[in-house]
Amino acid sequence: MNSRTPLIAGNWKMYKTNTEAVETAGRLVELVADTSDVDIMIAPVFTALDPVAKVIKDSRVGLGAQNLYWEKEGAYTGEISADMIVSAGCRYVIIGHSERRQYFGETDETVNKRIKAAIAADLIPVFCIGETESERESGKTFSVLDKQVKDGLKERVVDELGPLVIAYEPVWAIGTGKTATSDQAQEAHKYIRSLVNDVFGAAMADSVRILYGGSVKPANVSELMAMPDIDGALVGGASLDAESFSQIVKF
Ligand code: PGA
Repeated sequence: MNSRTPLIAGNWKMYKTNTEAVETAGRLVELVADTSDVDIMIAPVFTALDPVAKVIKDSRVGLGAQNLYWEKEGAYTGEISADMIVSAGCRYVIIGHSERRQYFGETDETVNKRIKAAIAADLIPVFCIGETESERESGKTFSVLDKQVKDGLKERVVDELGPLVIAYEPVWAIGTGKTATSDQAQEAHKYIRSLVNDVFGAAMADSVRILYGGSVKPANVSELMAMPDIDGALVGGASLDAESFSQIVKF
C-alpha cells in the first residue's frame, strides 16, 4: 500500500451552461457527502467556475479550471491567468490536455510555462500526457512519455513540484470507449513514475499522484484503481452525470 490519497477528477470540457453546471455540482455534493479518503475535483468551463464554487463551498468537492495562461495580466484577449482562476475559487488546474495540444497548438514548451504559473499561484497542476494511437502502434509510447514529462517539467525543481499531479491519458482512449487495459495503464504509470524518479528523485516519485484518463466509467474504475501505480482518474464523459461520477468516486 502506498500513502497517496486517490484523486478522482472530472473534466467537464465544453459542456454545461451555468444553470446545468450548478445543478450537477449540487447533486454531486449530496452524493459524495459520505465519502472519505479520496480527493474529488470538477473542472467546469471558466464562466461556470464562480457559481459552481458557491455550490461546492465547504463540501468534499474541489474546483479546477481546464487551462490558464502564464502571464499575470495584460493585453491577451481571450486568456485567463492563474490568479484569476484562484480568485474564482480554484485549487486545481488541468494543463496540457491532449485536446489543447491537438486543437489549440499547445506544446511541451507552453505546457511548461503554464505549470510554472500554476505552481507560483499555489494551484495543483494536473499535467496531462499520453501517446496517440499511431505512436503506440509504432512502439513509441515510452519515448513520447519521456519527452512530454522531461520537457513539460523542464527547469522545475522538486520543491516547487510538491503538489504536482500527472494524468496519463492515451489519446486513443479519450472519448472513444476504448479504455487501456489495466495492465497497459499500469505499465505506462510505472514508467512515468520511474521517469519522475530519474529526474526528481525517489521521494517525489513516491508522492506524485498519477491519474489514468480515457473512457473511465463506473464499470472499469475499480480494476484500474487496483493497480499499484494508478492513483486516481481524470474522467471526461462519465463525469458529466452526477450519479455516474459519484459511482466512480466510490470505486
Ligand atoms: P473521457 O475523457 O473520459 O470522455 O474519455 C477523458 C479526458 O479527456 O480527460
